[in-house]
Amino acid sequence: MKIITIRVPTKVTFFGEHGVVYGTHAIASTIPVYIDISGKLNKDSYNIVLNIKHGLQLTINNFLISKKNINEVKVEVEPEHVKKILNYVLTAISICEEVLDVNKSRYGYIITIDSPLPIGVGLGTSASVSVGISSLCLLLNDYIKNIEDHKYDIAKLAWSVEKSVQGSASPMDTYTISLGGLRYIDPLTLDAYTIETDYDMPIIIGYTNKTSSTTELIQKVRKIKEKNNRIFNSILSVIENIVNEAKEAFIKKDVESLGMLMNINHGLLRSLGVVDNRHDMLIHILREAGALGAKTSGAGGGGAFIALAPSKEIQERLIILLESLGAKIVSRSLYPNGVTFLKND
Ligand code: MEV
Repeated sequence: MKIITIRVPTKVTFFGEHGVVYGTHAIASTIPVYIDISGKLNKDSYNIVLNIKHGLQLTINNFLISKKNINEVKVEVEPEHVKKILNYVLTAISICEEVLDVNKSRYGYIITIDSPLPIGVGLGTSASVSVGISSLCLLLNDYIKNIEDHKYDIAKLAWSVEKSVQGSASPMDTYTISLGGLRYIDPLTLDAYTIETDYDMPIIIGYTNKTSSTTELIQKVRKIKEKNNRIFNSILSVIENIVNEAKEAFIKKDVESLGMLMNINHGLLRSLGVVDNRHDMLIHILREAGALGAKTSGAGGGGAFIALAPSKEIQERLIILLESLGAKIVSRSLYPNGVTFLKND
């Protein structure tokens, strides 16, 4: 029985989170932090067998669920982040089989997910799992022969998974992770253009504890919109301007402007109530210590941040400072690729 292994990058949002849920553009990029997913069809039974690894640690071993129960994911497992992964995995398999009418539930699956990051820290891990499992399901069932020619289909399928699990999600994370590189995303037309820039600029990507879920934060923003649509629309139009200015700044490799735009975008996220206070302090410390720009990245409520330094030396100094403050650093560069086929055993 063939075993397929897929490598899925995670991602960082540079500009435009939350606005992208309401139709404004956003800029996000894949980063070189990968979730590896391998799997084969389980021809002996109807069951899905899951192994989840977190680096060297095995967090769940031979977890078994019948495909009959796939739509009632009330699985009681600890820790919480494993339960979250299960939700995305089972929904992805269910949508893959349903939408594409593959396999007709004849077989189960044996899947191993190896993630260096916990799910839900704001770096697109849930979207990576959705993209990875969708790709795996399509490949194992011979619906597609390779990933390269089907990235938009995979992105679309994975986006349905995100919407189904979270209730609401923009296409930003799944399209960026599927296609890869720095992308300018139009959530209305589903275009995701590559932006040519310096992939080695001195950035720092990391995270702190997340205090609210993405779903809660999206709802919080929705309440502001419902309460005062006019003010909300004004904020959205500033976000749209920031994203468009940033696109030009990336092309010109104008890091000073990018830093300034990051700071303004952070201020707007704060005005939308999604920036955690301790996270905000960290962002301000980074700027005081020499960052050209620093912002919360992704849904907020703690979670991911991105900073831009004026030089590699200052980048190093900021990393030491961040680690001393308890932040986890995950990447200091962007990544040009999306989901890729790794091997066939
Ligand atoms: C999530 O990574 C970013 C948000 O904009 C939600 C979304 O785009 O679905 C907050």
